Amino acid sequence: MSIIAIYPGTFDPITNGHLDLIARAAKLFEKVIVAVAVNAGKAPLFSLQERVHLAGEAVSAYENVKVIGFDNLLVDCARQHGASVILRGLRAVSDFEYEFQMAGMNRNLAPELETIFLTPPEKYTFISSSVIKAIAELNGDISSFVPDCVFQQLFQKFKTR
Ligand code: COA
Repeated sequence: MSIIAIYPGTFDPITNGHLDLIARAAKLFEKVIVAVAVNAGKAPLFSLQERVHLAGEAVSAYENVKVIGFDNLLVDCARQHGASVILRGLRAVSDFEYEFQMAGMNRNLAPELETIFLTPPEKYTFISSSVIKAIAELNGDISSFVPDCVFQQLFQKFKTR
């Protein structure tokens, strides 16, 4: 059976932690859709267009991975793209409560969709987009935590501020 999985997030910006999960998912599913949410509530540093572009560049090596932007309900976006699995990462116990609530709500909204969780290797358990941005803003070395395209763009963003 061929299964399409959707991996939603804000990806502001995409990190090596996200990419690790995408690499695992690309082996498990016929197609993986990385769905970049508008998420205005988080006041992202990068615009939706920039985040989609960076994620697209970062996943260009994977033939079965596609990046889209979305501004509607995740379950509606999943249905529009024929996805039957919602993919999320669980880095630590602290992620669990939020993820459990979201998975439950999404199941209520769309019972036909399953949420599946993948865990990262230890070296990525402490990465988050906010931490990366905070370090980059203070000129810290983030080169081992993000793909090169993101490294360049973060450098540009903070240089021109
Ligand atoms: N590696 C590294 N970092 C990871 C990670 C991984 N594997 N998984 C998550 N993170 C980090 C992200 O960088 C992010 O860090 P930040 O908070 O410092 O920016 C954090 O964990 C959580 O972000 P993310 O996974 O992008 O989730 P989110 O909470 O920003 O996004 C949506 C949640 C977009 C999936 C959710 O709001 C949504 O579905 N929105 C659409 C509207 C909708 O359907 N709402 C109802 C949902 S029930």
